[in-house]
Amino acid sequence: KKVAILISGGGSNMVSLVKSMTGDQAGDHPGRPCLVLSNKPDAGGLLKAAELGVPTEVIDHRNFKGDREAFEEALISAIDPYQPDVIAMAGFMRILTPKFITHYAGKMLNIHPSLLPKYKGLHTHQRAIEAGDAEAGCSVHEVTAELDGGPILGQARVPVLPNDTPDDLAARVLVKEHLLYPEVLKRFCQGERGSFEI
Ligand code: GRF
Repeated sequence: KKVAILISGGGSNMVSLVKSMTGDQAGDHPGRPCLVLSNKPDAGGLLKAAELGVPTEVIDHRNFKGDREAFEEALISAIDPYQPDVIAMAGFMRILTPKFITHYAGKMLNIHPSLLPKYKGLHTHQRAIEAGDAEAGCSVHEVTAELDGGPILGQARVPVLPNDTPDDLAARVLVKEHLLYPEVLKRFCQGERGSFEI
């Protein structure tokens, strides 16, 4: 199964996904990374992907002056030549319209740094701390037209500690993201669709 990974920043989740499919970690994993694409030309993850030997593409959303449709048409034109079976969003910070989501219906995953359905959208760790939650975490879900709303395929929990800052909590959750996403992707590539927790 060919896996395209979409990023906007450092790409730490992308690195975890690529490493889980290559080298001695690959084992019986049916997935192989075919592309890393970023909407930001300066995304640190692009260099990491190149170092890992994965082809990269950049579609800079700023070249489309708010024309989402045109941006998404350019995304599709850049992605489709790689013929991915799966699209993994990993820190991709652009909201996609139903046009893009329909084009890859049933093939798209995303990781979100909260225990969905709680805290859809941004600033998830700050919101969990301010709500006084005892736990926080991350979720991998199928991407549908509803932002952060598709079927949940996996979750991981961490404790919220008394003096946590949002950055403290983000760092604790990110460790779990790097374990959860590769496991969900492997199961998704194997055709599994159930939800599990690590
Ligand atoms: C992570 O918190 C992830 O949950 C969110 O983007 C953040 C950065 O991810 N989607 P990465 O380091 O760019 O993979």
